[in-house]
Amino acid sequence: MIDRLEQKDSELDEEEMALYLTKIKENTERCKRITGNLLNFSRKSNWTVTHIDIKDTIMNSINLVESTIKKKRITLTTNLSPELPVVFGDSLKMMQVIVNLINNAMDAMNSEGQLIISAKVEQDSVCIQVIDDGSGMPAEVLGKIFDPFYTTKPVGKGTGLGLSVCYGIIEEFGGKIQVDSEESAGTTITVQIPISTR
Ligand SMILES: Nc1ncnc2c1ncn2[C@@H]1O[C@H](COP(=O)(O)OP(=O)(O)OP(=O)(O)O)[C@@H](O)[C@H]1O
Ligand SMILES: [Mg+2]
Repeated sequence: MIDRLEQKDSELDEEEMALYLTKIKENTERCKRITGNLLNFSRKSNWTVTHIDIKDTIMNSINLVESTIKKKRITLTTNLSPELPVVFGDSLKMMQVIVNLINNAMDAMNSEGQLIISAKVEQDSVCIQVIDDGSGMPAEVLGKIFDPFYTTKPVGKGTGLGLSVCYGIIEEFGGKIQVDSEESAGTTITVQIPISTR
């Protein structure tokens, strides 16, 4: 685009420029996701402990990916219990976990998929679930998804760091992450975060 602007190419119209700008924007987002994951994986970022409002954190995470949800025409249902307690930890990291899980769910679904995000209290933990009705996973994939750099996505699409980063973050929260998946039916990821008594 720069070359053609310099050459004052009269065929370069607004429509074509918008196309290139969209591509640049999309790929910048992708770079952000990849470098963010790499930095986290190598634990180069700081851990800031605050009170976390789970509902706000989930809603803020959804805001970040809302345009993609709409673009893919995915139906999102949120099912957040009205009495979610406070947990302690880094709220940005918690957002990162939720965004990663939503991105994985969206990658597994075709358009018109159903995505459910729920949060409720279970004993002494907050239980967050991200449920999709996408491709699901065969057993051999399921056994490897938390391995760093394991990806089934094409080169340039996935780094395979999303879930290993999530695993590390949830561990720092003192929580657990579990996967239930059925091939061609969908996947449920369950995150349990202990409710702090601090
Ligand atoms: N909701 C899901 N449905 C189906 N497969 C999934 C789902 N979540 C994860 N997977 C599988 O687990 C693999 C690893 O996921 P992970 O998030 O670690 O990496 P990635 O999504 O491939 O790449 P990145 O997150 O770095 O962009 C994926 O490539 C995919 O095969
Ligand atoms: Mg991922």
